[in-house]
Amino acid sequence: MINLLFVSSSLSGEDSRSERVARELIAALGQTRIYERRLGDGSIPHLSGEYLQAIMTAPGNRTPRQYSLAKRGEAYIEDVEAADAIVIAAPMYNFSIPSTLKAWLDHITQAGRTFRYTAEGRPEGLLKDKKVYVVASRGGIYTGESPVKPLDFQEPYLRHMLGFIGLTDVSFVHVEGQRISPAAAEAGLNKARQTIAQIAPLAQAA
Ligand SMILES: Cc1cc2nc3c(=O)[nH]c(=O)nc-3n(C[C@H](O)[C@H](O)[C@H](O)COP(=O)(O)O)c2cc1C
Repeated sequence: MINLLFVSSSLSGEDSRSERVARELIAALGQTRIYERRLGDGSIPHLSGEYLQAIMTAPGNRTPRQYSLAKRGEAYIEDVEAADAIVIAAPMYNFSIPSTLKAWLDHITQAGRTFRYTAEGRPEGLLKDKKVYVVASRGGIYTGESPVKPLDFQEPYLRHMLGFIGLTDVSFVHVEGQRISPAAAEAGLNKARQTIAQIAPLAQAA
């Protein structure tokens, strides 16, 4: 039984393709204890000056307000630390990711906790040995020979940020063509399901 953190970030509720496919992936991965963070409900705050002040103040010197602000941010890091595997459902919004998912990354990217710089000045990610799956849904098609591939700031950004904090074992499941036509959307869902059929057995064998 593994601990799996499921982070969803679509604003589309039941109609979310990234969430639907992510749930299919989780089912295919098999025996997991699942903890969910639903960012699409708007509950995650963006970073604020007050929050940064709170986390930069030594724990023993924090005011009650700073204590509660820091504790709320800390919870996102604790989720990740406790997980053996992470599934992120990430829609493409304006060629990148939802701002709530950016806020989540801002919370979990914390110096001394999830990354550090070595004496030689090199960044080192501190989260180790966690498998990450990103279910990336898009209205258009950005993979293969697509002419708009350079406009995909979703996958490169997520790969970079996850790698920066040590999460380098990342598999993407693309759910593409969701806003082109019903046929393209169906084809995109089927392709995503084929990817799941390839990667899920690898996870079970690991
Ligand atoms: C605010 C917003 C911005 C979007 N921007 C893009 C975009 O830049 N490129 C694209 O291919 N699709 C874009 N889409 C379409 C979504 O990526 C697509 O509908 C996808 O299925 C959304 O994921 P979801 O179904 O999990 O919500 C956008 C949709 C919304 C709501």
